[in-house]
Formats: sequence, C-alpha cells, structure tokens
Amino acid sequence: MTYLPVNLAYEEHGEGTPVILAHGFPLNRSVWYPVVPMLSAKAHVVLPDLRGHGESPVPDGTYSMRLMAEDLRALMDQLHIEKAVLAGHSMGGYVSLAFARAYPNRLAGLALVATQAAADSPERRAGREKMVDEVRRKGIKAVAEQMTPALTCRADLAEPVHKMIMGMNPKGVKSVLKGMAERPNAQEWLSTITVPAVVIAGAEDKLIPLERGKIMAQLLGRAWLVEVSGAGHLPMMEQPEAVSDAILQLINSI
Ligand code: MLT
Repeated sequence: MTYLPVNLAYEEHGEGTPVILAHGFPLNRSVWYPVVPMLSAKAHVVLPDLRGHGESPVPDGTYSMRLMAEDLRALMDQLHIEKAVLAGHSMGGYVSLAFARAYPNRLAGLALVATQAAADSPERRAGREKMVDEVRRKGIKAVAEQMTPALTCRADLAEPVHKMIMGMNPKGVKSVLKGMAERPNAQEWLSTITVPAVVIAGAEDKLIPLERGKIMAQLLGRAWLVEVSGAGHLPMMEQPEAVSDAILQLINSI
C-alpha cells in the first residue's frame, strides 16, 4: 500500500525534546494552546493541523488513520526530527497508535489523551454514516450542534469549541468520519509498543469513557494512567496543568 502524504500546516514553540501534539476531530491545533506555555519551556513543541482540519490541505478520499500518520512522518522528516514524543488527543490518538505501529523507531514516547484503542462498534459506525449524510444535507452546523455538548463539561468552552467546529471544511469532515469508521482494533498489538506511555483521561468524558483509558493502560507495556478530575473530552483545555504535568513526566521518563 502506498500512502501519499500532504504538507501539513503547523507551528513550533520552544527547544528540547521534540513533542508533536496531534489534535482530535473536528478540531484543530489550537486545542493544545493552553498547554503550550508549560511544555515549550522544556520541549520543542510541534503543533500540526491534521489533514482536512484547520489550515491543512483537504484532499479527496478517505483519510485513514494510517494515512494521517504518514503525514506526521513526512512532517518529522521535513523538520529533521528523528524521534519524537507523540501526544494524540482522541482521533489524534488513533493516528498516534497507527504511527506507533508503522514507525516504532521514530517514537520516543506516547501520550494518549481522551482516546481509545478499540475499533468502532457497529452502532458507532452507523452513527458516523448518519453524520456524513447530515453534513451533506445540513452542512457543518449539524456536526457542531451534535458534538459541542459531548466534547466539554465546561460551559465557558462551549462557544469556542462550537466556533472551531464551524471552521471545518465539510469535505474534510466526511473524509475523516470514513477513516475513523474503518480503523482497525489497535488493542491487539498495544503490548508491542515498548516506549513509555501515559494515558490521560477525563473523569467526566461523555464521548470516550474513562474505562477505555484504563483498558489501554493495562494493555500497553510501559504505561501509567492519569485520571483528570474536572475534565470531559478536552482535558488539555479543561485542566491544562494536569495534562502538561503528565506529558512533562513522560518526557522525563524517556
Ligand atoms: C475526536 O474527538 O477526535 C472524535 O470525536 C473521536 C471519535 O469520534 O471517535
């Protein structure tokens, strides 16, 4: 299989250990802004917009998690980063797991934030098909209305999150939904990941329950779990200090 990468939009902050922060769906790199000051004091932080999101290209076709991982590999090559700590939020976590499988030698550590290793259930897959159809009929507003309440437990974040989703390209949304629906079950090979890993999960996550994080931490070889109280599906925005501390601890452990 050939994977054709695209040039991602990105920004860089700080110096030190390279840390790539991969955002979730249907968001963009700005979800990580609250943790950047703390992380960039110690690390070289790279914030990409994944394909179909933010300022990155929106090519045709299904965006498989493996293909999106290829974009990250190409960005690392472009920035002359041999090995990086990869922190993936939700869909960014699916992409990070695909990266860990394809490029274990380019990975120094893994932070899995509000994400899961399991594949979609048949119900979840059907829900994604329904959402693709709604985007076709009603536009991006349908996604923003449905997802905003599920994403955060903080009322003050609802408006910025809604705005972020409204900035998504409908074609990108459809391509990513298809890619997430077809992703394989990563639980089967989690134990082959040998780098240190931290699993960060919001105690009040309505989209991917904390239990999923606990399962991942158990299946991973060298992982610990950080349960973030007062956080839903966006711990890096809801509790940035707890998330920064966990990622800095990961950096110190490599
Ligand atoms: C995300 O937050 O990245 C997505 O909602 C995850 C998903 O839909 O599985």
